[in-house]
Amino acid sequence: MATASEIAAVGVIGAGQMGSGIAQLAAGGGCAVLLLDADPTALSRAVVSISASLRRLAAKGQLSQAACEDSIKRIRCVSAVQDLRDADLVIEAVVENEDVKKKLFVELDKVTKPSAILASNTSSISVTRLASATKRPSQVIGMHFFNPPPVMKLIEVIRGADTSDEVFAAVRSFSERLGKSVICSQDYPGFIVNRILMPMINEAFWALYTGVATKEDIDAGMKLGTNHPMGPLQLADFIGLDVCLSVLRVLHSGLGDNKYSPCPLLVQYVDAGRLGKKRGVGVYSYGHRPSSVRP
Ligand code: NAI
Repeated sequence: MATASEIAAVGVIGAGQMGSGIAQLAAGGGCAVLLLDADPTALSRAVVSISASLRRLAAKGQLSQAACEDSIKRIRCVSAVQDLRDADLVIEAVVENEDVKKKLFVELDKVTKPSAILASNTSSISVTRLASATKRPSQVIGMHFFNPPPVMKLIEVIRGADTSDEVFAAVRSFSERLGKSVICSQDYPGFIVNRILMPMINEAFWALYTGVATKEDIDAGMKLGTNHPMGPLQLADFIGLDVCLSVLRVLHSGLGDNKYSPCPLLVQYVDAGRLGKKRGVGVYSYGHRPSSVRP
């Protein structure tokens, strides 16, 4: 099994909001990155946004021009799970769906080298259940980054029932090598942060749904009244309303309490394709609404 300093090649699966940020971070940390997505347009979008983000940092003087270009060169887009066979660590950041993730872990277990660590960026799904899809459950772990990964300081590391101490130690030091602070959670629905955050977001939707206040006042209330950098409805838009809904459903079914039942307004927005900032419209509008989004 690779130790933190031996993690040289990182596979990232899913080149969406999170995967592209994780790829940028790992490349900035000196790793060779193999970036995979089922959708080729997601890959090209990711390359454009990673390059733009690194060049912005270079323009601001926060990164040398050489380091910026080196990081971009370290990222290679690939098209099949087999292309990840040389990775020391694979971080999966595909859609928050247990069946999709499990299928991927079965495949990864077959094609990656026996020493590779398999990590999931899941927001809420059981790491133990993902690990049980493989023959190496001691090498499966949750690495929960926050959005956007290059900026946010935290990685929540989740130990599955069988995650070994060595794998936990390697992932903790690797995360620190990337400049992040680490918190450790046991494997319960929503882990630490989303267990606490998502009920607040859901409650903000209930407040909007039942006419307690406008979206602007709900957000301003939480921003100015509790010193949060943004209100819960805007934060939900930034996370993605589909991701919020999936996490709430995991909390609801996993913890068996109706207080986690998703607000009907959140469900309706997701049904309408109003997934938040990434789709140009969620609770708020962001001025770049793709034509594929239904009203
Ligand atoms: P996204 O929708 O922006 O990106 C997901 C990407 O995965 C898409 O590009 C899609 O084409 C790709 N994909 C789907 N199935 C695939 C497969 N079988 N093989 C390869 N690629 C596949 O989603 P986002 O927001 O990046 O979330 C990804 C994961 O990260 C989810 O598990 C989510 O819960 C988690 N997460 C999300 C956060 C957020 O703020 N959005 C924060 C922390 C974790």
